Amino acid sequence: MAHKKIAGWQFTGQNGEFSLEQPDRSSFLYFPLVNEGGMMSSVTPQLHGQVTSGHNTFLTPPLSVEDLHNSRASRNFWVYIDGKGAWSAAGNSARQHAEAYSETADDSLLEAGLLWHKVTRENRQLGIKAEVTSLVPVGSDKVELMKVVLTNMGTGEILITPTAAIPLYARSADDLRDHRHVTSLLNRIYTLDYGVEVQPALSFDERGHRVNHTSYGVFGAEEDGALPVGFFPVQEEFIGEGGSLDWPEAVVWNAEPQSGRDGALHSEGYEALGGIRFASVPLLPGQSRSYVVVMVIGNDRIDVEELMGKYGSAAAFDAELTANKQFWADKVNTVSFHTGDDSADQWMKWVTLQPVLRRLYGNSFLPYHDYGRGGRGWRDLWQDCLALLIMEPEDVRSLLLNNYAGVRIDGSNATIIGQHPGEFIADRNNIPRVWMDHGAWPFMTTLLYLNQSGDLDFLLQEQTYFRDSFMSRCRERDSSWEPAAGSSLRTSAGEVYTGTILEHILLQNLVPFFNVGEHNNILLEGADWNDGLDMAAQRGESVTFTAFYGDNLYELSELLRTLKDRTGSGTLELAEEMLLLLDSLGESVDYASVSAKQERLNRYYAAAPNRVSGIRAELKLEQVADDLARKAEWIFSHLRSNEWVESVHGGGWFNGYYNNDGERVEGETAGGVRMTLTGQVFPLLGRAAAPEQIPHMIASVERNLFDAVIGYRLNSDFGGIQQNLGRAFGFAFGHKENGAMFSHMTVMYGNALYKRGYVREGYKVLDSLYSLSVNFELSRMYPGIPEYINEKGRGMYTYLTGSASWLLLTMVTEVFGVKGLLGDLLLAPKLVKEQFDAQGRASIKTLFAGRELEVVYTSTGSAEYGEYQIHGITLNGAVVTLQRVSEGVLIPRAVLQALPEGQVHELKVELA
Ligand code: G1P
Repeated sequence: MAHKKIAGWQFTGQNGEFSLEQPDRSSFLYFPLVNEGGMMSSVTPQLHGQVTSGHNTFLTPPLSVEDLHNSRASRNFWVYIDGKGAWSAAGNSARQHAEAYSETADDSLLEAGLLWHKVTRENRQLGIKAEVTSLVPVGSDKVELMKVVLTNMGTGEILITPTAAIPLYARSADDLRDHRHVTSLLNRIYTLDYGVEVQPALSFDERGHRVNHTSYGVFGAEEDGALPVGFFPVQEEFIGEGGSLDWPEAVVWNAEPQSGRDGALHSEGYEALGGIRFASVPLLPGQSRSYVVVMVIGNDRIDVEELMGKYGSAAAFDAELTANKQFWADKVNTVSFHTGDDSADQWMKWVTLQPVLRRLYGNSFLPYHDYGRGGRGWRDLWQDCLALLIMEPEDVRSLLLNNYAGVRIDGSNATIIGQHPGEFIADRNNIPRVWMDHGAWPFMTTLLYLNQSGDLDFLLQEQTYFRDSFMSRCRERDSSWEPAAGSSLRTSAGEVYTGTILEHILLQNLVPFFNVGEHNNILLEGADWNDGLDMAAQRGESVTFTAFYGDNLYELSELLRTLKDRTGSGTLELAEEMLLLLDSLGESVDYASVSAKQERLNRYYAAAPNRVSGIRAELKLEQVADDLARKAEWIFSHLRSNEWVESVHGGGWFNGYYNNDGERVEGETAGGVRMTLTGQVFPLLGRAAAPEQIPHMIASVERNLFDAVIGYRLNSDFGGIQQNLGRAFGFAFGHKENGAMFSHMTVMYGNALYKRGYVREGYKVLDSLYSLSVNFELSRMYPGIPEYINEKGRGMYTYLTGSASWLLLTMVTEVFGVKGLLGDLLLAPKLVKEQFDAQGRASIKTLFAGRELEVVYTSTGSAEYGEYQIHGITLNGAVVTLQRVSEGVLIPRAVLQALPEGQVHELKVELA
């Protein structure tokens, strides 16, 4: 049978609310429900998904995205209708599955918003409707709530018997494959007044066999708080011999509950179920009855009275719903956009939420993220700060400061990040791996922070360094290191060493400069941004990140000059060993010589072998700046002359990589074109690409990477696995890191085009991302930006992606051109005419200098970028004297700081 055309979701309100008809007819859809207290849920239109507070504490069974339609173990809410049989308010019964494609299928409607999820489901034959609303309440409780409203839609009275049925997996994700049965023997199952609680006696997981305290519960109450009548606490008894969770005997036969409210230990050693039987009740036509279900993870036995006192009624649920909507709307609305396209503005609200979701979930605990064990990687730690700088700026300074404690003295960094800020953990699995890009991101994020805040003092703050058994970028082992010695770098005298943030940054960028391969580009090591380029650790080179480091060195040299001008201090102090890396201050290295660079780096490693002398050298800022500039210029000219790939079509592009056989990766061959988007993005983002090279790069991207169906691909088809480059090429072409439209790189490409003044081209890139994401027919995803779009056009790994941070940043700082310049506000809009509304207005509300600003651009002449200029500005109605700089107009920070806090200030900007 041909599929019906799918209408897709529609925005229905002003805070990103949307609705989708027949959500059952799209697979892989899931929605996040989360709070700052650590509850992390996901829910689907059939109430599938998972409920957890961490890798070792899953309330429901951990799952992967395929389980969303194939596993029967999900939240369920059953209604037995006398004379008519069993129906699932979640749409999750064998009968409803069997009827899915027929005329008798349920009608369903999904409505969702920040951050709540509601499915309305009606079965016309049975004359019953269920509205199920789910949320995770704001605050610190690890709780998920569900309210079910059942309505008699028929013409006669019906007698219903409701039963909530939520599998209580109650243990670590590891136990899914490792001793699932044996760990069920640990379960201690209690039936209490409102429901079922499981507290396993021990936990068997990587932490060892320990007494377990964590407790898991499912509780329920009627709308007025009335108690359930009994429970089904054991899964096998609920489903019956030969039964299953989607056709359980206890419901199908409308059996009596297996346990009363005895408040005692009910049983031990079985798979548990939050099976809650409510009293049978007659419903007149049009009459409704509501039930509240509370899922909870407690640190120890749960205080059920208190919990249900707080959440266990329809009124309490409704209050939590209101609080949720307010909390998340406030969070997201710290930045909001108004353009000529209201849907695009609403969509941006979901993109704005995504970095917060990533802060809360890390890269785990949503169905596609079936590999994560919690936490985030080093790269993501820094990039997520980009968005936080815009959304939650007050917390960022300490975050950044803490993160620098992860840097090693060899310029690499810890890769296992602890729970608490600034906590980095030595890798006990002993997998020596260095991602060569890791050193590049911190400075980019810090520079944004410095520009937004003007807080140059930050650079001079002191921080420790990380130390474990790895040294010389994991090429050597420090056999003298013991975990007991702690993970802070020490001096030869045994004292914990601290250095300035500036010193950390310099190290991260200086070491790679010398760490080059045979073509004099920086070694690829374990991989770069593309985690999948992991098979070229010996001879592979990342040309594109060489460009990134080159630009960092350039920016650093400029920053040192600024530091000199602003602070009046002409010197800085650095660990004396670092002088070796600032070669032009002493014994210069011939940068054209690979062996000379390697030799110098080895000398440095030998001088700082997982410890430092503790002596600092005082250096002239000017001289250090010159050294850095010299290195940057060397990289730029090296790349421009050696890594430019000529095309037979004229022009060309930048080669991005060398493989483990020392071969250049990109180019046109008889076998086809090999090109990466990554290879272009970093030379464009900084200064490595010369202005005259840019149009050629754009043309090559359009020719080799643009695909009408899926947009800008990450790479062209290399035609097979590349054992000398990385696992990514084992993925089928058009998927994930092999030739999909990988949003993160595409957004960075867009950002780079805007930065380089190619605004129309940048707009095309961002617009393609938006159009692909909202094309529901193909993308089958809710509003937001996916990690990637696969070769069919489906949006994958929804919600948790670094691309959201970059998109938000690009919209604020490039498209709307609202950005900091060492603390002052720079207005440099790059809006194109489609982005203005019918009145010629486009506006953004955002935070700057601790003030809420609404920047309203009004175009009185041409609204096309390049044809307008800032003509005049008023601040709360008063004319602002225009202080023009090369990029746009500057408003001194002091002007903004003089404004009262806690209200929105209007900056009207006339463009003509
Ligand atoms: C993910 C990772 C990111 C990595 C990228 C490419 O992208 O989180 O660190 O650079 O894959 O391998 P994301 O999901 O953030 O878009």
